[in-house]
Amino acid sequence: MSKILIISGGSRGIGEGIVNAYVEKGWDVFSLSRSINDNLKGINQIVVDLCEGNKLEQIIQTVFEKIEYNTVEDITLINNAGSLGEVNRIENIPEFDIQATFLLNTIVPIQLSRLFIQKTKDWKARKSIINISSGAAVSPKYGWSIYCSSKAAVDLFTQSVALEQNELNNGVSLKVVYPGIVDTEMQEKIRSQSKDSFIEVDKFIDFKTDNKLNDKFTVGKEVYKIEQDVSIQNGAIIRIQDNR
Ligand SMILES: NC(=O)c1ccc[n+]([C@@H]2O[C@H](COP(=O)([O-])OP(=O)(O)OC[C@H]3O[C@@H](n4cnc5c(N)ncnc54)[C@H](OP(=O)(O)O)[C@@H]3O)[C@@H](O)[C@H]2O)c1
Repeated sequence: MSKILIISGGSRGIGEGIVNAYVEKGWDVFSLSRSINDNLKGINQIVVDLCEGNKLEQIIQTVFEKIEYNTVEDITLINNAGSLGEVNRIENIPEFDIQATFLLNTIVPIQLSRLFIQKTKDWKARKSIINISSGAAVSPKYGWSIYCSSKAAVDLFTQSVALEQNELNNGVSLKVVYPGIVDTEMQEKIRSQSKDSFIEVDKFIDFKTDNKLNDKFTVGKEVYKIEQDVSIQNGAIIRIQDNR
């Protein structure tokens, strides 16, 4: 019997940490991202820009063609790829950037969840979706209006679909995870903002200086534990603690 992880953005950052945790536990991993990480051995890395050209259906079809469904005991989708988008007051953010950020952070996870639920509908395996959201979904931030709102939408999407799946025999378990502040390129981008576009920038610079950021590999292991924990209610939002 096999265990399968499909993850968006497994190439670096938190996604790399999650991939490592699942590989350690013997799972077969399919990672969807624009670049390849040569340090990740023994996994299927599929090069794709998830925001380009309505490719999601085709990509998911390709992945599922490689899976022998009657040998699968556990299958998980982790929607992890995300972007901060442009940090600024809303009147200064270009329309294309708003659309691109919502596409990656909100529409792509919704579409991948939809396809995953369709494809695994009659499967006997345990089925699970984790949506990597952010504390920013419930904590407004100056300059982050698009990021905050794109993540808040994912939270409500997850909770609503969990209600639907609860009514089915062997429905999909869905959870949202807030990973805390994690030492990745996204945090580098936050620290590089001007005070004009992000008035809290000094606080985030201090988090790094004071060594308060979570490590991506530790977060990856936490995500695995949360995903596997069957005692957690469907649709739950789980916050990984950081050192702040
Ligand atoms: N870091 C934090 O403190 C923090 C806190 C709260 C929530 N989060 C959330 O955690 C998730 C991961 O964040 P991170 O900090 O690890 O970010 P990151 O270091 O910037 O990594 C982003 C990942 O997404 C992939 N990606 C980006 N655009 C893509 C696209 N168009 N198509 C396919 N893949 C794409 C990247 O791979 P390629 O470049 O290879 O495509 C990379 O693997 C995000 O959803 C973020 O909102 C992060």
